Parts: sequence; structure tokens; C-alpha cells
Amino acid sequence: MMNRNIENQEPKFFGRRKGRVIRKAKGFLLENMLPQLRVVESKDFNKEKMFGSNDLEVCLEIGFGDGQHIYGQAKNNPQTGYVGVEVFQNGVANLLSLISGIKEGDNLPCKIDANSFEVKNIRIYDDDMRKLFQKIPDNFFDKVFLLFPDPWPKKKHASRRFVNDDNLKEISRVLKKGGLFRIATDHPVYKCHVLRTMYECKSFYWSAKCGDDWRKEPVDWVRTKYQAKAIREGRRPVWFDYINM
Ligand SMILES: C[S@@+](CC[C@H](N)C(=O)[O-])C[C@H]1O[C@@H](n2cnc3c(N)ncnc32)[C@H](O)[C@@H]1O
Repeated sequence: MMNRNIENQEPKFFGRRKGRVIRKAKGFLLENMLPQLRVVESKDFNKEKMFGSNDLEVCLEIGFGDGQHIYGQAKNNPQTGYVGVEVFQNGVANLLSLISGIKEGDNLPCKIDANSFEVKNIRIYDDDMRKLFQKIPDNFFDKVFLLFPDPWPKKKHASRRFVNDDNLKEISRVLKKGGLFRIATDHPVYKCHVLRTMYECKSFYWSAKCGDDWRKEPVDWVRTKYQAKAIREGRRPVWFDYINM
């Protein structure tokens, strides 16, 4: 995922930005609904502008995939703001479909008002998280979720893993002191990578209270597509809850 060769150069992205053809309804949502929810400028990194109040908790989800977790969290916690970041266009379109309830084959409205739906507390950045970091003020978020990041299990691809020193420094900066940083993974190589990298990074401590903690779904958990795939394929997900110091 990560390879910043030269200072000030755009970070190189190794995943997919587009997948299957975007069909009619999702194309409509990307064109008409996304601009209303999109986080674009640094001035948007103001809770009041994004969510209409300065007095609320705000959480970040990096690489939300098809959006099930961020959508479920936002629905369960309507008083909390959620910023979701995803480069994969089909995933962004899927989140818009969850929020609006509009699916392929539905009659499309002439206009769409993103604030007319039940879930109003999600804002979206549809590009690379590493480009967004620099626009976010210090101590902004209450929680950061990084769920089933691409494992890049081969040693030669290890520098692409999202859990790395540069990104951890930024996550620690934008997360409040005492804030939660949750990483979920089902991949044995990534489990070891997280344990080692987070142990060496002195900005967080692991909040596990007993040996089995990390094998149990957190109480506020919402299942994701990759988790379901992992379970189907016989891999066991784990959850690392770290606290920012
Ligand atoms: C393996 S998928 C997991 C998706 C989702 N979190 C889930 O659990 O279903 C990883 C996702 O992270 C996204 N991603 C990877 N690097 C990213 C980056 N630098 N910025 C934003 N999204 C990223 C990918 O596009 C992909 O959708």
C-alpha cells in the first residue's frame, strides 16, 4: 500500500481504484450524492462544517471497503460523526447505496438529498488516506479504525503495509490522547507485523486485558465483508485495540 520514494511526491498506491463496471444506480450515486458528502478541502476539517457542531465525537475509518462497518457504526451512533476513506470507487458507491437504500434496478430520482436519509453522519474522502493526513488537525479524532488492511504478505511487498512508522506517526497525531486505534486482521503474517510494529512504536499501548481478548469481536463491532470471507475460508480474525498515549 505504501511507498513514498521521494519527499513531496504523491504516495504510490498499489491496490485497485476501480473494479467491476460501475452500473447505472451506482454511477448516479457517485455523480450526484458523493459531492454532497465528500471531504475535499482542509477547511472541511472542521467539525462544525462537516457535521454541524463542534461538540461531537468523530471517528475515522481507513479503507472502509464496501462500507458495512462505517455504515453500521454511524447508524448505531447517530450523535457521532464518521469520516470514511476509501480509494476503491466500487466500495465508495456501495457505501452510498447503503446510506440511500438505492440499488441497481431501482427507479432513480431526479435529485438526491444526502441529508434526507436516516444515516446523516458520514463524510467521505474517496482518495488515498496518506494524502488526507496532512489536512487533518492534531487531536481531531476520538477513534480510528483500520479493518482488514491489505496484508501484502510477501516480504518484498512489506513496505506497502499500511501499518508502518510513517502512518502510525500520523495516526497518533490526528487521534486524541487516550483515543482508540483498532486494527483487525485475519492474516497470520499481518498479525505478527502488527504486534512487532506496534510494540516498537512507543505512541500506543495495547489495551488487551487477558490472553483471549484479541480473539473476541469487540462489543461495538459491525461485521465486514472481509471478515465474512476470512471466516468462510477458515481464517480466524483478531482485533487489536491500541490506546494513543
Ligand atoms: C482488504 S480491504 C478491507 C476492506 C474493509 N475494511 C473490510 O473489512 O471489508 C482493504 C481496503 O483498504 C483500501 N485501501 C488500501 N490502502 C488505502 C489507502 N492508502 N487509502 C484509502 N484506502 C485504502 C483498499 O482499497 C481496500 O478497499
